[in-house]
Amino acid sequence: MKLSVLKETASGETRVAVVPKSIAKLQKLGFSVIVEQGAGSSASFSDDDYAQSGAEIVASSNQAIEQADVIVKVNPPSEAELAVLKPGQVWVSQLFHRLNEGLMAQLKSKGVNALSLDAMPRISRAQSMDVLSSQSNLSGYKAVIHGADHLGKIFPMLMTAAGTVTPAKVLIFGVGVAGLQAIATAKRLGAVVEATDVRAECKEQTESLGAKFITVEDDGVTTEGGYAKEVTAEYLAKQKEAVNKSLAQADLVITTALVQGAKAPVLISEEQINLMKTGAVIVDMAVAKGGNTALSKPDEIVLHNGVKIVGVSNFPAHLPTNASELFSRNIDTYLGHMVNGGKFNWDMEDEITTGTLVVNNVTGASS
Ligand code: NAI
Repeated sequence: MKLSVLKETASGETRVAVVPKSIAKLQKLGFSVIVEQGAGSSASFSDDDYAQSGAEIVASSNQAIEQADVIVKVNPPSEAELAVLKPGQVWVSQLFHRLNEGLMAQLKSKGVNALSLDAMPRISRAQSMDVLSSQSNLSGYKAVIHGADHLGKIFPMLMTAAGTVTPAKVLIFGVGVAGLQAIATAKRLGAVVEATDVRAECKEQTESLGAKFITVEDDGVTTEGGYAKEVTAEYLAKQKEAVNKSLAQADLVITTALVQGAKAPVLISEEQINLMKTGAVIVDMAVAKGGNTALSKPDEIVLHNGVKIVGVSNFPAHLPTNASELFSRNIDTYLGHMVNGGKFNWDMEDEITTGTLVVNNVTGASS
């Protein structure tokens, strides 16, 4: 089977889906690997690196797609890529299939099978294949570094001959994958860290990292499969009350709250931003899903009453080398699960297969 790695076309994207290190593993699975020229250059992987690892370099995405049985990319196909897909090919990338019904219909009519990496079930045996987790982890780190860069203050306490600098106060909303890494990073840099989440089990995880957990006393929350479900308006009102004192003192706020399959919950209103200190910074990681604050805008910095609200929609693209390495590792592990003896092993009893096969032309069933 031939597997082609395409160059990303989305604006601002710097990652590549497969790095040279994964090629030997893909070859062992029975793939010969084709890489579109320049696919890894923004992530610091040269065509020579790929060629030396055993890949064939081709000049265009058309050439890469025409020869391929399997096509891998970070982001969904562009219109130009869609146009050259052929029946029987397997497309592998993030597809966000619930938000992209039109694209799913196009893929279905092309006769391809599409595997969506962001649809990986959150179960232990799929953890090593989960691109959302690997990319969120790195992004939680980068959100703190990015926020620190926007602050006019340092994080640690510093005793100098000119006086003592008090440590920065960091408040984190959402203690999932990104939130936990943000807590750990802010702590490592010497900040005083507080965090809140709707899931009670996050208290212990927060405290184990040396941060304080802000508990909201309410039973209006349900969770399912490691994800929070939507909370009641009453809960959100109580949460606002519980966090306001910390919000007013915070230098940096990182918001990472996500409710699966829904728009991001607005956890910080304009009135609450008005309570914050001049010079404080909010980094809203959920901005691409509508934002966790009332004023966030994707890939913009909003200045409101002296508070900077920074919305970054693609943190992994700010760390393309590591983000690509982890993404690639997720893909080679996933393909190792899906492929057996040089062929796709379409096991419709397997949760990983059925969860990620979002366009199914294997069985002819619509999905
Ligand atoms: P996750 O599902 O692991 O964590 C989300 C957390 O939010 C959960 O612990 C959940 O209980 C919590 N939460 C839900 N409602 C809440 C509420 N009302 N108050 C407090 N906590 C609440 O998700 P993950 O992977 O950590 O991602 C977090 C967010 O960051 C997502 O919106 C994701 O799309 C976004 N993200 C953004 C990136 C970027 O580049 N901007 C990169 C990676 C992730």
